[in-house]
Amino acid sequence: MSQALDNAALEQIFLKARTVHAFKPEPVSDETLHKLYDLLKWGPTAFNAQPARFVFIKSAEARARLIPALSPGNVAQVNSAPVTVIVAMTASSSSTCRPSSRSTTPSPCSWAMPPWPKPRPCATAACRAPT
Ligand SMILES: Cc1cc2nc3c(=O)[nH]c(=O)nc-3n(C[C@H](O)[C@H](O)[C@H](O)COP(=O)(O)O)c2cc1C
Repeated sequence: MSQALDNAALEQIFLKARTVHAFKPEPVSDETLHKLYDLLKWGPTAFNAQPARFVFIKSAEARARLIPALSPGNVAQVNSAPVTVIVAMTASSSSTCRPSSRSTTPSPCSWAMPPWPKPRPCATAACRAPT
């Protein structure tokens, strides 16, 4: 690391950041979601397996399919949120798509908008195991 974060950044990330339970009814753009994914994908994972799969829920139809699966305490929050993301994990990441190590391009395999993606075989370069 070449430069330490300043106190304002440290405070924002570690001291002031709180879980949000109420949401403004403002849409979140796909561009913002892409930016979010492009940051979070760098998080470290065991063996760099990157087992998480992200499904961003924006439409009323997709939300209606999700609601029955929620804990009762989360229903109002999800109903009021302009976007909800399902973070799922593959039980066997070795047989599924995963982005190449430190790829600078978004993986076609690890995030999606509804309609739900079908599992894909690893047939493209972007789906190859990290080297
Ligand atoms: C693994 C995990 C699961 C959580 N699940 C829920 C949840 O289902 N509903 C919810 O409203 N908050 C959920 N939370 C948020 C926690 O309640 C919240 O982080 C905690 O109360 C601390 O509050 P803070 O993040 O504002 O400091 C979850 C947090 C974690 C880490």
